[in-house]
Amino acid sequence: MQAVVIPQFGGPEVLEVRELPNPQPGPGQVSIDVVYAGVNYAEIIFRRGVPGLPLPFVPGIEVAGYVRELGPDVQNLRVGQPVAALTIIAGGGYAEIAIAQAPLVFPLDDLDGNIDLATAAALPSNVTTAFLLLSSVAKLHPGESVLVHAAAGGVGSVLGQVARYLGAGKVVGTVGSPDKIDYAKSLGYDQVLLRDEITDARAITGLPGFDIILDQVGGVTRTQSLELLNQLGRLVAMGNASNAEDVQISANLLWFTGKAVLGFNLRAMSIEFPERVNIAARQALQLVASGKVRVDVTDVLSLNQAVEAHQRIEQRLTTGKLVLRVQG
Ligand SMILES: NC(=O)c1ccc[n+]([C@@H]2O[C@H](COP(=O)([O-])OP(=O)(O)OC[C@H]3O[C@@H](n4cnc5c(N)ncnc54)[C@H](OP(=O)(O)O)[C@@H]3O)[C@@H](O)[C@H]2O)c1
Repeated sequence: MQAVVIPQFGGPEVLEVRELPNPQPGPGQVSIDVVYAGVNYAEIIFRRGVPGLPLPFVPGIEVAGYVRELGPDVQNLRVGQPVAALTIIAGGGYAEIAIAQAPLVFPLDDLDGNIDLATAAALPSNVTTAFLLLSSVAKLHPGESVLVHAAAGGVGSVLGQVARYLGAGKVVGTVGSPDKIDYAKSLGYDQVLLRDEITDARAITGLPGFDIILDQVGGVTRTQSLELLNQLGRLVAMGNASNAEDVQISANLLWFTGKAVLGFNLRAMSIEFPERVNIAARQALQLVASGKVRVDVTDVLSLNQAVEAHQRIEQRLTTGKLVLRVQG
């Protein structure tokens, strides 16, 4: 099969397409003929270098396509079935054939409504993350205010919508440049600010602060967000897209101000609690199939254009979601 590999850590140009042996599903696993693979910031992190990652490595944490083969002990899925899947545990999504754990494979033919395969490849990570993050981690209460950083990006484009679906009050987004404001507003954010303006967020929004802040940017944004949190508010650290040094947070400050800082990681959760991820992913798929949450596939590139895909993400040129068309 054809696959994109990371032969050595480095910039986007290290990615190359190689011919690899077809992978076989082991016990509890499923192989998938991949039609589309989602492109995520996570793969950029792997490509830049993660200690201990075996090279060459095939990146890719989510796919959509058709079940090719079932490994021993797999039930409730069938060969030829259209599915979306998280390949987040071992990677491997940028390939014509990908392997996923059975609980992380989600049928598309039992949904109430339709999802095309490009959209199905674009949502397993982001919409599932949004759902788990807001319901199980931040534990959103109806009417609470929510601030989402990088509101026009892949996960940012759905976080506000899922917050609204779960009953949030005012939902505000931040973006890094003015050209992304209108797009973020089209996703249902009540207000969209430039991230440079967030120290003035109280004055601009008229809110006393925020009950929930979802931070995928890190660095100074994380420190400024903590200051904007209401008492009993929750800041969720969920990424570091700015590639900044980690920030130190004082436990005594949290005690004195009555604020909480939480973390979320979909890969860690998929390893430890695959059945909970399965339930959330199916809810996420249904939200999209029924039109309650919109997932925009804004760019479709071929497997051979993986270098360009990574360049576009790192240059912050994308809004919504970029997917690779793999085969079919
Ligand atoms: N914890 C989890 O399980 C989980 C799940 C999904 C995603 N994430 C995290 O969420 C973040 C976004 O992921 P994604 O797949 O949605 O990526 P994406 O579509 O590329 O979005 C990344 C966003 O980050 C912002 N950004 C800020 N500084 C940046 C920089 N120096 N370079 C590039 N982008 C920068 C950009 O928005 P502006 O231009 O508006 O600043 C961009 O839209 C990543 O940090 C990822 O690790 C975490």
